[in-house]
Amino acid sequence: MSMKALILCAGRGTRLRPLTFTSAKQLIPVANKPVILYSIEKIRNTGISEIGMIVNPDNISSFKQALGDGSNFGVRLTYMVQKDPKGLAHAVKISQDFIGKDNFLMYLGDNLIQEDLSKFVEEFQRLEWNASILLTPVEDPTRFGIATMKSGKVVKVVEKPQVPPSNLAIIGVYLFNSRIFEGIDNIKPSWRGELEITDAIQFLIDHGDKIQGHVVYGWWKDTGRPGDLLEANRRILEDIRSSQKPDAISSNMYKMEGPVVVEKGVEISNSLIRGPVIIGKGASIINSYIGPYTSIGPNVTIENSEVENSILMENSTVRNVDVRIDASIVGKNATISSAKIKPKVHNFVVGDYSFINLS
Ligand code: DAU
Repeated sequence: MSMKALILCAGRGTRLRPLTFTSAKQLIPVANKPVILYSIEKIRNTGISEIGMIVNPDNISSFKQALGDGSNFGVRLTYMVQKDPKGLAHAVKISQDFIGKDNFLMYLGDNLIQEDLSKFVEEFQRLEWNASILLTPVEDPTRFGIATMKSGKVVKVVEKPQVPPSNLAIIGVYLFNSRIFEGIDNIKPSWRGELEITDAIQFLIDHGDKIQGHVVYGWWKDTGRPGDLLEANRRILEDIRSSQKPDAISSNMYKMEGPVVVEKGVEISNSLIRGPVIIGKGASIINSYIGPYTSIGPNVTIENSEVENSILMENSTVRNVDVRIDASIVGKNATISSAKIKPKVHNFVVGDYSFINLS
């Protein structure tokens, strides 16, 4: 039986506004790479190359622009539009023709996991389970789908319970055979008005299907909120090793400590870079301090400023800011600067849903 994958990216990303006004949340860069690419690589490493992308009418063009048909990443992408985010089960239903009779791996597009998925895919293909879900213990089980297990078997699943029966959260990786469509056809929208995949799985359990649960302990992040993105950025930067493209840096008078990745055509002068830090191509860092866990996108300018533990996206500028910037996400082409002339004022052009916290 061949195996496909489905990545769900049709949510609205409201908690990441204003970044999600101009791009999908799964395309936000973490360590200078869109979140979604980490997932696509993980799926590709299991041997699956046929991937269906569930997107929405607003973000489909940004996905196509960033990922194309997937050939640059060694996979084949098929885009399917879910007009409204009516639930994970609704998204799966849309893909029914694409999936056909195949088994499939379903992946929630805003999740980042450390675990290698090959062994789960291989086992699912070999054994006769109807579904297999990855679980991990969490501290706040009311925020997730929660499973109850008995000797390796899932005996109950419930979505965001007020009184959680266990602390095992359903992380965004599921393996299904086509039985799941039977479940989806037999459920009704939940209290939040969504067709829940959790309810479709419970339907299968109630009808005697065998559902496997795998508890995993590697890190896992649902990147739905700004703090989650910064944490994912720290986790990924933690594993980088220093590297420099040939002729990467065009000036001297700088100091680097710890792991720092430098892409092509970067200008650094009179600055201290304390890794882990990644610096995208064409960036300039002048008279500045870049502290640990910072991702600097392509063509970013940082001048007379200090930045740490932050994500600065493509073409953004930070200039003459005299208080250190920490735990911040700066969108593409945005500018943060200080004029240094009297009167001393704050002056903003702030987009809808922006967040500014002055010290
Ligand atoms: O993060 C893990 C949790 O994900 C699980 O524990 C829950 O059982 C599961 O229901 C899901 O809960 P969330 O409330 O966090 O799901 P969210 O609405 O954030 O959607 C997850 C992804 O699926 C996100 O990338 C957007 C996409 N999506 C979501 C909906 C509702 C779609 O593509 N279509 C949809 O209709």
